[in-house]
Amino acid sequence: MSKALNKLRGRFSGDMGEMMKEFSSSIDIDKEMIPEDIWGNQAHVLMLAKKGIIEKKDAKKILKALEKAKEDFLKGKFMLNEELEDVHMNVEAYVTELIGEDAGGKIHTARSRNDQVLTDTRLHLRARVIEVEEHIIHLQKTFVSIAKKSTEKVMPGYTHTQQAQPITLGFWATAYASILNRDLERLRKAYENINRSPLGACALAGTSFAIDRRLTARLLGFDDVIEHSLDAISSRDFIIETLGALAILSSNLSRLSEELILFSTNEFGILELSDEYTTGSSIMPQKKNPDFAELSRGMTGYIYGALMQLLVTLKALPLGYNRDFQEDRVLLWKSINRVKMMLSALNGTLSTAKFKEERMRELAGGNYSTATELANYLVREEKLPFRKSHEITAKVVKELYCKKKDFEDLKLTKNILEKHDIDISLKELKNLLDPENAVRLNHSLGSTSPKEVERMIKELTANTIDAKEEIRKRQERINKAKKLTEKMIKSEKCLD
Ligand code: ARG
Repeated sequence: MSKALNKLRGRFSGDMGEMMKEFSSSIDIDKEMIPEDIWGNQAHVLMLAKKGIIEKKDAKKILKALEKAKEDFLKGKFMLNEELEDVHMNVEAYVTELIGEDAGGKIHTARSRNDQVLTDTRLHLRARVIEVEEHIIHLQKTFVSIAKKSTEKVMPGYTHTQQAQPITLGFWATAYASILNRDLERLRKAYENINRSPLGACALAGTSFAIDRRLTARLLGFDDVIEHSLDAISSRDFIIETLGALAILSSNLSRLSEELILFSTNEFGILELSDEYTTGSSIMPQKKNPDFAELSRGMTGYIYGALMQLLVTLKALPLGYNRDFQEDRVLLWKSINRVKMMLSALNGTLSTAKFKEERMRELAGGNYSTATELANYLVREEKLPFRKSHEITAKVVKELYCKKKDFEDLKLTKNILEKHDIDISLKELKNLLDPENAVRLNHSLGSTSPKEVERMIKELTANTIDAKEEIRKRQERINKAKKLTEKMIKSEKCLD
């Protein structure tokens, strides 16, 4: 048995079986948190020395060894010992190996792996959440730039996947920018709960050493501490919240994927995907498949699964630390990677795709999709109750349909309306039934009219700028904390 692991087994007479070692190891899951583990160690040791809990000379040795561990990790020379249970024991063993037991053995004073693993997870997660947010902002920008160019370009709007009313491409694109705003908002809120320090909660009950939890929180760039030690150790709701936000984001991305898939079919024919974001068939030479959108739709199930897995894991756990918690990161990091890939793939697919304006116009005006405008006109000009105007318009549609005609046949439409005592000029009728005009008429708040879409574009752009600024501030806070830790490590006086 390795020495370091042996240290945890003082009360045992025998070694842990090989199978059990493999079963319980979290090294594979946690190795991406080693830089955070080292930072957490640095903050902890600085605090211990400042509070006189360990001697300055020991702290200096430990800090030097941690510095070496960091360098070695960056050079890929930090070899993980699989015999040790986790990355925390690995970092401690690395330090102890370098400076000996007398100093190295003090690193774990007033701390537990229970608060340590949570510190690492929160530090790592906050950085990963920022990456996801940045990806969302990119996609949002793509939508806004599509929208800017297309506030007048009509396309079919659907309900029940049946042509409903004409909308503009700008209106469609801003809908997604607006949806993504809420995804950003959810992640921002999740971030607030992530960025709190559990360090110093120790095993579950705090400690009898006079530690300074606020100092370690500041050194690690946390916005606050989670005061209640039992809560800090027992809770994983910050991960559930993050996975919840990711699951909702995926659901939105999956719906976008579905639209890209549908719109690029020959049947819809309103979207041409680029070669870069499509694949061919091994047998059918003519095929051009929207695989990236399909994969994004498919990966959504994985994210839902991750959320469900954690909810199920936690549902019957008593307060305090439970080893079941180790499972919380297994799907978390993979989920974040997948969501980032989905966002990149969809951004690429969308920004290189071409919307086919002629076909969009054809569908926007077809299938009597401006009938609602005709009904509205009858309410406004003929002072009919809407129910009545709906009935008359439906009869007009019915007769046109039976004659295999549509609104394009203005004369016939006019004749049918006359039968219902409605007199309307051809010019006026054309104006009303023309999809470009119909979208212009919808001027209510948040409607598809070019004016409203232009206004919403401005608001959405401002929101994106705010989100970017918020991220910049967070990163600045993190960098400041890193610098403060480094400054304290360098300056001996800080330890007094
Ligand atoms: N690998 C453990 C985890 O992920 C670290 C904490 C271990 N704590 C303990 N009491 N065994 O949760």
